[in-house]
Amino acid sequence: MAGAFITFEGIDGSGKSTQLRMLASVLRLGGFETVVTREPGGTPLGKRLRTALLDAQAEVDPLAELLLYAADRAQHVRTLLRPALETSHIVLSDRYADATVAYQGAGRGFTPELIAEVVELATGGLKPDLTLIFDVSVAECLMRTKRREANDQSKDRLDGEDVDFYARVRDRYLEIAAAEPERVRVVDASGSVEETHTKVIEIVLPFLEARGIVGQPSEQNAPPTGTQPQKTPVN
Ligand SMILES: Nc1ncnc2c1ncn2[C@@H]1O[C@H](COP(=O)(O)OP(=O)(O)OP(=O)(O)O)[C@@H](O)[C@H]1O
Ligand SMILES: [Mg+2]
Repeated sequence: MAGAFITFEGIDGSGKSTQLRMLASVLRLGGFETVVTREPGGTPLGKRLRTALLDAQAEVDPLAELLLYAADRAQHVRTLLRPALETSHIVLSDRYADATVAYQGAGRGFTPELIAEVVELATGGLKPDLTLIFDVSVAECLMRTKRREANDQSKDRLDGEDVDFYARVRDRYLEIAAAEPERVRVVDASGSVEETHTKVIEIVLPFLEARGIVGQPSEQNAPPTGTQPQKTPVN
């Protein structure tokens, strides 16, 4: 596959979605064909599963939860991720299989063997080329999500989990990074949005260059003249 599959991971409130949006706009400006997606909810079926999974009112049984995430992922891999990668897109996904290892494995306590089987079944072996794990303390993440809730009244089920749960999830993410240093990079996300963005750019642009992936700057995606300092194009 000539595209590149990049996943964003980390506990709730670590800044994944913020950083994904910022990276996507840099890549698009640089003329990279970029697809932005997420789990759960990257497909029409997935959106319905996401609503069911994140409904603040509903108690979801842990096994049902594991299987619903797997169903979302199976649909995502087959109908969106593989087709986009086969047509040489850069795909940025807000969460993917590592989230199941961390949340359903370490968080809910399913065995690594069961998690590995379910992940293999759902993904058909599709692995990210690069995974960024946004790492920040549980206390800071809780503060960020509380602030977000106050701003937009959003509240989903996982926000209600306790501190121990998030601590286990965070530790498992760091174990994944230690086990697969080629694929997984830990990004210290404790600083400002801009500081973290700089770290992301410093990882992703050399990664794309090493894979021989270049942007196709065109007038359409060039910034309006006079609004940006002249700098080297992204490719
Ligand atoms: N570096 C940062 N410093 C302070 N606040 C931040 C930072 N990055 C993001 N935020 C804010 O923290 C909140 C959580 O960020 P964001 O939604 O990007 O996290 P997330 O990892 O996508 O969370 P979730 O897993 O719940 O979707 C948002 O309100 C966002 O504006
Ligand atoms: Mg998010």
